[in-house]
Amino acid sequence: MTILVTGGAGFIGSNFVLDWLAQSDEPVLNLDALTYAGNLQNLASLKGDARHIFVQGDIGDRALLDRLLAGHRPRAVLHFAAESHVDRSIHGPGAFIKTNVEGTFNLLEAVRGHWNALPEPEKAAFRFHHVSTDEVYGSLAADAPAFTETHPYEPNSPYSASKAASDHLVRAWHHTYGLPVLTTNCSNNYGPYHFPEKLIPLMIVNALAGKPLPIYGDGLQVRDWLYVGDHCSAIREVLARGRVGETYNIGGWNEQTNRQIVHIVCALLDELRPGADGPYTRLITHVKDRPGHDRRYAIDARKIERELGWRPAETFETGIRKTVQWYLAHGDWVASVLSGGYRDWLATNYTAR
Ligand code: NAD
Ligand code: TYD
Repeated sequence: MTILVTGGAGFIGSNFVLDWLAQSDEPVLNLDALTYAGNLQNLASLKGDARHIFVQGDIGDRALLDRLLAGHRPRAVLHFAAESHVDRSIHGPGAFIKTNVEGTFNLLEAVRGHWNALPEPEKAAFRFHHVSTDEVYGSLAADAPAFTETHPYEPNSPYSASKAASDHLVRAWHHTYGLPVLTTNCSNNYGPYHFPEKLIPLMIVNALAGKPLPIYGDGLQVRDWLYVGDHCSAIREVLARGRVGETYNIGGWNEQTNRQIVHIVCALLDELRPGADGPYTRLITHVKDRPGHDRRYAIDARKIERELGWRPAETFETGIRKTVQWYLAHGDWVASVLSGGYRDWLATNYTAR
């Protein structure tokens, strides 16, 4: 038995692969294009481990997908691969349509061919697990109830629109062709191996370098934050016991404004690596807001709790402490991802703000 993971060298995908192989001997075939966001260093601890088979390739490459599916006959596909950063989607939406929409379509078609050819009982046991986001639901008013699985889709950014489109394709491949799919929509993750273009790692990395901590607009936008290890455990539960064709929302019951997040990160750094020039909050700067910035996301995770008994193991307090400690202990990883390409992105996104 084997599972195929797409995007397994990215932030969540690599955490998932590491968690999976820490708990199971079932091999992982890891297909990743190694874009700027993919990093094999995340998987360095698996070097020489025969249970991890890495293939560099694009989910848009149908011949490659057909070859991998026929050669390895996975019992499940977990689809993490995506362009994932909202700000990048504003500067260049094309890559998001290519990978998140066309790539998912291509993967679904290849998987449909593979699944159709499987003999029973493998066919009945097969699963296609689509990893998606709460951003497809759009923005909530301050006092509105949290997103349930039946909340209307109202995506507002090119990123969330492309993920919404992929969710719709996955749904249609189930209803039309009977493909046994599972979809999870999760809130903002944080934890080890998070690329420092996203809020939490950017704040840690900038603070340690004595650089400004850029908060978009008033910083009162609200996100629900979940430790990445808890997202991985939720995916494992849904894959094992989720009902085919269903969607499960995954969240941490942890709504925070961006300002609160930045203050918490600064306070932890003040404690664990105090700066010579005073508290890190002195570096906070308010910069021009993100266009179309969603005001609030919140997840109602009662369905996965009720049906599968899943709950996050980490509180935000324990998870964010672990995360800051991880970044402090992994200066080499941080240094290696702050490459020329990363500096170009900082210039594109922040110089004119
Ligand atoms: P990421 O950007 O860190 O990693 C994406 C990975 O996909 C990278 O390794 C990249 O090389 C790979 N990839 C990109 N295009 C590819 C292609 N065409 N073919 C093959 N591989 C390709 O993203 P992440 O934060 O790990 O997110 C993983 C998934 O989880 C995404 O689908 C995202 O929408 C979803 N998600 C993310 C969050 C979050 O907070 N980061 C929350 C909910 C859902
Ligand atoms: P991000 O980590 O990009 O995730 P998403 O946009 O997918 O929720 O951003 C989280 C929040 O932090 C979002 O409201 C935008 C805000 N933000 C800043 O205020 N400054 C920054 O430099 C970044 C990257 C994000």
